[in-house]
Amino acid sequence: MKKLLDWTKEPAFINRKQEFSFLEAWISEKPDNLLFIFGPKSSGKTTLLTHFIEQKLPDSRYDIKHFNLREIFIANYHHFIQAFFSIDYSKSKDDVKERRQYDLKVFKLTVETLKGLEEKTLDPFAVMKQELKKTEAKGIRSLIIIDELQALEGIYLNGQRELFKELFNFFVAMTKESHLCHVIIASSDGYFIERIYNDSKLKKTSKFLEVDYLSKTDTSFWLDDLAESSKIKKFTLTEFQKEKIWYLLGGSCWEISSFLGDLLLVADEGRIEEGDFADLIEKKKITMRSMFVDYAGLFKDKRRLFFEIHRVAENGRFEEIDVESLITAGVYDENGLRQELIELVRHNFLAYNPVTATYSLQGKSMEHGLRMFVEKMKNRKV
Ligand SMILES: Nc1ncnc2c1ncn2[C@@H]1O[C@H](COP(=O)(O)OP(=O)(O)O)[C@@H](O)[C@H]1O
Ligand SMILES: [Mg+2]
Repeated sequence: MKKLLDWTKEPAFINRKQEFSFLEAWISEKPDNLLFIFGPKSSGKTTLLTHFIEQKLPDSRYDIKHFNLREIFIANYHHFIQAFFSIDYSKSKDDVKERRQYDLKVFKLTVETLKGLEEKTLDPFAVMKQELKKTEAKGIRSLIIIDELQALEGIYLNGQRELFKELFNFFVAMTKESHLCHVIIASSDGYFIERIYNDSKLKKTSKFLEVDYLSKTDTSFWLDDLAESSKIKKFTLTEFQKEKIWYLLGGSCWEISSFLGDLLLVADEGRIEEGDFADLIEKKKITMRSMFVDYAGLFKDKRRLFFEIHRVAENGRFEEIDVESLITAGVYDENGLRQELIELVRHNFLAYNPVTATYSLQGKSMEHGLRMFVEKMKNRKV
């Protein structure tokens, strides 16, 4: 086979041993609960799941349906049916090429059943249950993964029935009651998880796994050996540069990976010259601060909230009650403050941990951005 050109950089996959052990233990038990995977945006949830499936779950023993709702557009019932079900071409005589094209990880049905779903004469949940039963009868284990679940918010089945709630009741029935399949729900919107959790009374039927940014040890391991971890051969980093990256970006995989890409552009004779490095760091800092300027800009209440978060957050973490003084001061009422915090989660300034009910700034870059924003505003005496 002709050798393809080498990439100058490839996605890394550092550590995650603890998360792997947790997932292995969980999947080895007969299904009895839902598993929520949460963590800030781009912390590595999807990557963790993909690697886990590839490395630990043999094709022959597992039937995995992985719905990444970030990749699928769902705005109504019809879209939902199209995303979750397709025609089973393995039973038709069409040529193999066409079959492959349809080899998606979804529920595969006969033309008639699919038609029944489209026309709403069949109940999608009853159909899914039947399919899961068939799989079980073959001695194969089922795993359903819904990634970026919050995409289903605001979609109704008929009138008042909210899709994600129906889906949840179904998953509870499939795990806790029928023990038919394992279900993993992943989301970077911790607040949304909390809502489902409260709405669907799942307290006793779910487990949680946090996928956070990498630790300092893991980040050092990555940056120490770029050739191995990221297949980068064009440069290595000095100790100073490694420290600076950790200081600025922490263990945020996506940001580190993207910054390494920026460095590739200025790599020269196996290294990054200090001046170029400093320029790129400065650029990154400006972007971090401007996120806060863009968001809060002219809104005094939003600026006050950022100031207050900056004042109370310890290591970037705080609880709702810590910013209560804004209610006393009349900047927000109770609902307004909670809504604004949720907005900050949705806009990826904050991450919400539904287990500990704490907010945290989404990574070191948000901490730096906030600090610089507050300093700049103070200088203006606003
Ligand atoms: N363990 C890891 N080590 C290094 N890079 C990682 C790791 N996990 C994820 N990444 C990188 O971080 C980015 C975001 O990962 P992703 O799985 O999409 O995050 P999430 O699903 O939490 O939003 C991707 O570019 C991915 O390659
Ligand atoms: Mg993801």
